[in-house]
Amino acid sequence: MTIKTAQENKQKPVNIRALAAKCCYSVVDQGRSLGDELPKQQDKVSDKDKGLLQEICYGVLRYLPELEHDVRGLMQKPLTGKQRVFHFLLLVGVYQIKYMRIPDHAAVSETVSATSTLKNRHMKALINGVLRNFVRASEGAIITDSQTSALPAPIQYNHPSWFIKKVQQGYPEKWQNILNANQQKPPMWLRVNQQHHSSASYQKLLATAEISVNSVDSLSQAIELTRPTDVSKLPGFEQGWVSIQDGAAQQAARLLNCQKDDVVLDCCAAPGGKTCHILEQTPNISSMTAIDVEASRLVRVEENLTRLGLKAHIITADAANSKTWWQGQYFDRILLDAPCSGTGVIRRHPDIKWLRKASDIDALVILQQRILKETWSLLKPGGTLLYATCSILPQENNEQIKHFIENNADAKLLHIDCAEKETSGTIGWQILPDGKNMDGFYYAKLLKIKT
Ligand SMILES: C[S@@+](CC[C@H](N)C(=O)[O-])C[C@H]1O[C@@H](n2cnc3c(N)ncnc32)[C@H](O)[C@@H]1O
Repeated sequence: MTIKTAQENKQKPVNIRALAAKCCYSVVDQGRSLGDELPKQQDKVSDKDKGLLQEICYGVLRYLPELEHDVRGLMQKPLTGKQRVFHFLLLVGVYQIKYMRIPDHAAVSETVSATSTLKNRHMKALINGVLRNFVRASEGAIITDSQTSALPAPIQYNHPSWFIKKVQQGYPEKWQNILNANQQKPPMWLRVNQQHHSSASYQKLLATAEISVNSVDSLSQAIELTRPTDVSKLPGFEQGWVSIQDGAAQQAARLLNCQKDDVVLDCCAAPGGKTCHILEQTPNISSMTAIDVEASRLVRVEENLTRLGLKAHIITADAANSKTWWQGQYFDRILLDAPCSGTGVIRRHPDIKWLRKASDIDALVILQQRILKETWSLLKPGGTLLYATCSILPQENNEQIKHFIENNADAKLLHIDCAEKETSGTIGWQILPDGKNMDGFYYAKLLKIKT
């Protein structure tokens, strides 16, 4: 006879599909962020299953309207109230059948068995019936382009309608490419720490470690891997030879172009990717002040600085109110990586599509305006400020900067070297996610004219 330990007796059965349904419910119905919710559920499963759980949650949030449309067609009435988590369990089931290489019968039976861990055995027959009907209906079904294009835009493109309208207005010729790019799995980009290796020599280390490279950005130290890999497999990660950062975000340090003895401010710094890049690139600046309004996020800045062996003055403060933190020394360079809609990084954070609301955009534009005005007053005449967002919405980007230049006679827009032809009338550099496989990002570089 084997006697179970107290620990084993306490362990509840874990069902990945049940955890995925709970996670998606927390995001969509309770407005919580996937970045907060997924790790909580992942803590309950083995390392091997963490990836599966992640793939299902990301997939359901990527294809939410389409999956809901599929389920709606098979139900007499929608699941509401306390049954909502089972609504998400159905989406979890349909996502696996449509998009994952899991045999249909296994996807159905694993999803159905989640009903016992979710403590509602009555739902078992319903989930079983709906998923089996879905499998039957999809067998041999050929969906034509005309059937797809007859669907409402949110179901066709898997984005909310307010956002589709904004992208159509901003990019009348490219909007479909942008929405399609948002549906892709994101690439993994590395930033090589020039203090240790050049991009070319680190590429050799990657080749030795049998990690293949998809592309290399000629303007920065950015290397795109062919496949995402665990950081522990990256040569010298713990020693700070390399960091994970998208290719678009890696343009900031290059564009800010700090010089020896510069006094530098990164006024929305957490988690510190760009602060660290600037310090790696120009270790001989006079000082780096990294501020952020969220103390909890500044912990990540400290961790990143420590791993990379770098130093900065870290302050928890509101960048829109310098009275609370500014010591009276003007800055030569300021990076303003503004709080924004995050609409350029939807493929990395598909929950943004469902958490962000149309009404958030106006409030963000006002906050960006306030931070821009305040930090501009801390810039030395002759100094430069780099405004950045991970947004693709013109309101937060070129329209914001156009308004600023029109209202500040001492602000001059500087040319940005982006290896792309500048079209006349363009303000700043808008990187779109459908281009070089980088995140959607915006940069504008402003010089404070000496008067
Ligand atoms: C886009 S993120 C910055 C990313 C960071 N620069 C990096 O590269 O890792 C924007 C940051 O602005 C911060 N933030 C929002 N409002 C702020 C304010 N009023 N003052 C300072 N920081 C603010 C947020 O907490 C968030 O960490």
